Parts: sequence; structure tokens; C-alpha cells
Amino acid sequence: MNIADLNINIVMNPVYIPYMDKPQFLQIFFGGSSSGKSYWICQKIVLDNFNGANYLVCRNVAKTIRKSVFNEIKKAISAMGLNKYYRINSTDMEITCKLNNKQILFVGLDDPEKVKSITPINGVIERAFIEEATEVTKAALLQIKKRLRGRSQISKHIYLAFNPILKSHYIYKDYFKYWQDDKTSYEDQDICILKTTYKDNLFLTAEDRKLLEDETDQYFYEVYTLGNWGVLGHVIFKNWRVTDLSAEKRHFDHIFNGLDFGYSSDPNALIRCHLDRKRKKIYVFAEDGQAGMNDFELAAMCRKNCGEQYIGCDCAEPKTIDFLKEENINAYGVQKGADSINRGIRWLQGYEIIIDVTCQNFKNEIEQYHWREDKNGEPTRTPVDKFNHWLDALRYALEDEINDVRATAGVRI
Ligand SMILES: Nc1ncnc2c1ncn2[C@@H]1O[C@H](COP(=O)(O)OP(=O)(O)OP(=O)(O)O)[C@@H](O)[C@H]1O
Ligand SMILES: [Mg+2]
Repeated sequence: MNIADLNINIVMNPVYIPYMDKPQFLQIFFGGSSSGKSYWICQKIVLDNFNGANYLVCRNVAKTIRKSVFNEIKKAISAMGLNKYYRINSTDMEITCKLNNKQILFVGLDDPEKVKSITPINGVIERAFIEEATEVTKAALLQIKKRLRGRSQISKHIYLAFNPILKSHYIYKDYFKYWQDDKTSYEDQDICILKTTYKDNLFLTAEDRKLLEDETDQYFYEVYTLGNWGVLGHVIFKNWRVTDLSAEKRHFDHIFNGLDFGYSSDPNALIRCHLDRKRKKIYVFAEDGQAGMNDFELAAMCRKNCGEQYIGCDCAEPKTIDFLKEENINAYGVQKGADSINRGIRWLQGYEIIIDVTCQNFKNEIEQYHWREDKNGEPTRTPVDKFNHWLDALRYALEDEINDVRATAGVRI
């Protein structure tokens, strides 16, 4: 059976419809926030799969998949009324079309062995979708290309979706050579590119639109509202790098934990680090958290990650801290002085920050954290208060250390 034989109602944003059957191997869908990229690709994946294609759906870090693209695809199957044709294995994150035994498989690129070995039950992987592709290294993207080898009647494609965070990114350098900023699409033999913004998404509420239109920071407005490649002027942290800490992690013995509480759409953000004060290094080795958790889920997350260790928390939420204490979590409120953010930043700037590959949220935040600019484009002394949840959690984790330095300044020489 082909999808066309079913009488189903699929409502797509019109801008994407011409991209249902493009011939190019690499297909790039980038642009502003809430432009409908992920939603549409998930619709397309289900339709293609129903018509016989095996898919590999990837993100840089495995643990970010379940709550994002795996859920989106399950929702797409439901919305199209195709549940009865699908078997969904949530434990292994495998989705199988019962009619043709073709699959949608999910993998985190932080598990290279799984990337190499993952195989559908019927045929080969013909198509891969990389969600939030700017998170992915060039080497990992090449690995995925390799995975699409193998004979098949079905055309092979890689689809990328992302927000264009930085013009210095390899994706821009490698695939946007002929891109013109005043156009919204590009095509040649090998690549097709489509840029979309919230204006292309007919399903947003007036409130959603206003939130994007009201963005006051130039960088965030360019990237997330207009979908243009970002250029960051006054970044706050350059003293960081990402590496695999899985071996070192076992020896960490000077551990600090921090938690920033989420409000409505903001995430609860937990961070764990090891401090090597002598060598001036901070190892950010674990993170957890997301938006929309209740207090019990929050307590469970703290317990799972930190056990009985202390966790420095935002003192603005004493009720939540009390609740965590009742749940036997060693949470304490961090006193925030008037200049605590800037003092914390200055202190952190004196260290090398080494980030484990799995700490994707922290990496995304530190990469984009920048000073607010005045009307002449000069940096102020205020960081833009956005995308800073895991970063704030790191300051809370280390707040006592930060204050110690201040209290003894002038004493140590
Ligand atoms: N065809 C559709 N039918 C119904 N709702 C839709 C459709 N397309 C998009 N939406 C709604 O718009 C929201 C935003 O779309 P989506 O998450 O795909 O944007 P995005 O471009 O991936 O954004 P981001 O860059 O932030 O990841 C979805 O969560 C969904 O509520
Ligand atoms: Mg998306």
C-alpha cells in the first residue's frame, strides 16, 4: 500500500510542499525559531517511511532525542491517523511500519559504535535526518554519509535542520558558498537549501509571533527571528573547549553541583563540575534538565545525578528548595549579591572550562553568551539574559568558591 491509497488528511505548511521530493543528496532546512522545520520533516519522514524508506534520525547527544524528535515523530504518526500501521518500541526508540517492515531508527552521535552498527530489519538505511545539525561535528556528519552506502531502489538523502547560530560554522563554510542572503532558497545538483522563518509557519499564535518580533537583542533577533546566519560581536567566554571526559570523570573528587529553576517555558537546569583550582580548570562533566518538569520530577533528577551531594540553587525560589530538602536532596540557596553575575563571570573567565561532549545545552549556551550592546553597538556590562540556564547553574555551583576569592583578595599574593 502507498500513502496515496489512504484517505488521510495531512496539513503541511505550504512553503515546504515543493521539498517533498527533491533529488539532491543533501537537503538543508535552516532558519528562524518556530518556522515549522522540525514539524514538517517529521511529517515527511513518516510519509517516506510508509512508502518504503528506512530512516536514521540523529542528534548530537542521544539523551536529547527522546523528548524532541522521537516524540515529534510519534505525534506525526498519530496526527495522520496512522497509529494502526505502526509498532512503536519506546525503550529502544524504534518505529516500524507494520505493512512493509521499514523502520525509523534513532541514534545519538555520541555513540559512534551504535552509529556504525545500527541496521534496519528490512533493507538498508536510505535516508538520515540530523536535527539541530549545527551541534554535530564535521567528522560525525561524514560518518552519517558513510552509513548511507548500500544498494537500494530508493533514493538516498541527508536532511539537516538547524538555526544558523554562527557564520563561522563549518556548515556555512562548506555548503553556503553560493548562498545569497537576500534569497530564501538555493539549489544545484548536489544540495538544496531552504530558509524559513516564523512567517512561514501558519500554525503559530499571535502570542508566539509577538515573542519573536519583540526580541530586543540584535544577535538573537537576526538568528532566531529572521533566520539569518549569526555574527557574535562581544562574546563573554572564549576560555572553553569540548572533549570526551568519560575516562577522567571517574577520578573527579572536587565536585560541585548547581541548579537553576525553570519558570513556565524555561528549563530546570542542573550542572555538575569538578574544580581543579591549582591548575585553574573547571571540568563540566554532566548536565541534566528540561522545561515542564514538576517538583517530583525535579527531585528525582537531583537524586539521580547528585545523590547526597550538595546542590547550589537559585535562592529566588525558597519554596522549591524547601520541597527538595523534604525529599532529602541537599539543596541550598545561593545568596545573590548585587554584582554577583558579573563577579561570577570574571571569576569563570580566569579558568579554562573543559566541557564533556554530552553537555550539549551548556555548550550551546556558553557559545552564544554575549554582552548586551548599547545603541552604538558597544558592549555594556550586562550579559543578554537569555540562553543562560546551565551557565547560571554553574555559577550557583561554584558560588562559594567565587566568594572565597573575593573575601581573600589582597591576602593571597
Ligand atoms: N503543519 C503543522 N500543523 C500544525 N502545527 C504545526 C505545523 N507546523 C508547525 N506547527 C506548530 O508550530 C510549532 C513550531 O514548529 P517547529 O517546532 O517545527 O519549528 P522549528 O522551525 O523546528 O523551530 P526551532 O528552530 O525552534 O526548532 C510546532 O511545535 C507546532 O506546534
Ligand atoms: Mg526544530
